Amino acid sequence: MYLQRPTLGWNSWNTFGNKINSKLIRETADLMVSSGLREAGYTYLVIDDCWSLRQRDKRGNLVPDPELFPEGMKALGDYIHDKGLQFGMYSCVGTQTCAGYPGSFGHEFQDAATFASWGVDYLKYDYCYKPMMVDGCILYRRMGLALKNCGRDIVFDACSWGYDDTRYWIRTTGANQWRSTLDLVDSWESLKNMILKQNDQTAFGGMGCFNDMDMLIVGMYGSGNVGITGCTDEEYRLHYSLWALMGSPLMIGCDLREMNDTTREILTNPEVIAIDQDAQSQPFRIPNGYFPEEQPVWVKQLDNGDYAMVYANLHDDGVNICACWWDLGLPPGCGYGFAVRDVWKHEDLGVYENTFCVGVPAHSCRMFRLALTKL
Ligand code: GAL
Repeated sequence: MYLQRPTLGWNSWNTFGNKINSKLIRETADLMVSSGLREAGYTYLVIDDCWSLRQRDKRGNLVPDPELFPEGMKALGDYIHDKGLQFGMYSCVGTQTCAGYPGSFGHEFQDAATFASWGVDYLKYDYCYKPMMVDGCILYRRMGLALKNCGRDIVFDACSWGYDDTRYWIRTTGANQWRSTLDLVDSWESLKNMILKQNDQTAFGGMGCFNDMDMLIVGMYGSGNVGITGCTDEEYRLHYSLWALMGSPLMIGCDLREMNDTTREILTNPEVIAIDQDAQSQPFRIPNGYFPEEQPVWVKQLDNGDYAMVYANLHDDGVNICACWWDLGLPPGCGYGFAVRDVWKHEDLGVYENTFCVGVPAHSCRMFRLALTKL
């Protein structure tokens, strides 16, 4: 399967960890529809680690925990499909998953067939308990080969955290997206650290195999499995803006039963989602003053000739951030400028000839769409 756009959906791990069950997944499916998330494009509902028994059955098959998932995965998948959603599941290249459940090592073809028989549309494939004697790229190729031949289109989500130079070989495995970092947890320190780690990854995303910057913490406010201190709404908006600019898959991690209006507004902004889904071109950073690391300006060219741009402020104080059109390929005096639109405020800010400067408060961002305009 050749994936055209980064996947959008919800994943159980960030909030629920091992506290998952059929009722929660059904409720989440219902909420993805009733809250408008499905309509906004979030169609994958992914069950992460901790769904199976600790042992395979006598034939070596994975077995869903009958206490947590009494109706089995096929019936649960049918429920998800009936809601107009797609069904995602989780396994691991190693002998065990990260939480100690059976991994797919040595069972790749059998497990791919099992997932296909349950109607799975998406497989997240983790990197724990990897046997030392086999290279990671070989193990991803095994599952990639198994999935491609299992008789069903299944998105292959490789989650090797960027280890072992993943970015150089992942496109040889059939993976549709690859995790470029270790886990993002719900705190400003973690978020800032993850953003800085993207500086040398920009050439390795886009169509073919999207750069997965990890699941979203938007709306978690410090609760749940990876909830630490929590973040402010402005920090969540900055997080979401950069993930979208970079063309990352956007997998919601908060508890949809608790979702407030601000979280919904961040997650369903159509102008920002459109920028995420427009992921052909390589994102880049442009020079912008003395602290480029702490106040990065990220840019991505869009398919219709516009640019998307994020002015991010990672400082603990407010700063003034400027971008110069020269760096976007627009020389002074050429007869064109850029019309600037604020995609969070849904406001046109006018046409600018050479530069555009704005004040950006601490731990927040401004996000714009620029359209080339004759002066
Ligand atoms: C980690 C992975 C997380 C989550 C977890 C489950 O390795 O990065 O996203 O899937 O395992 O145990």
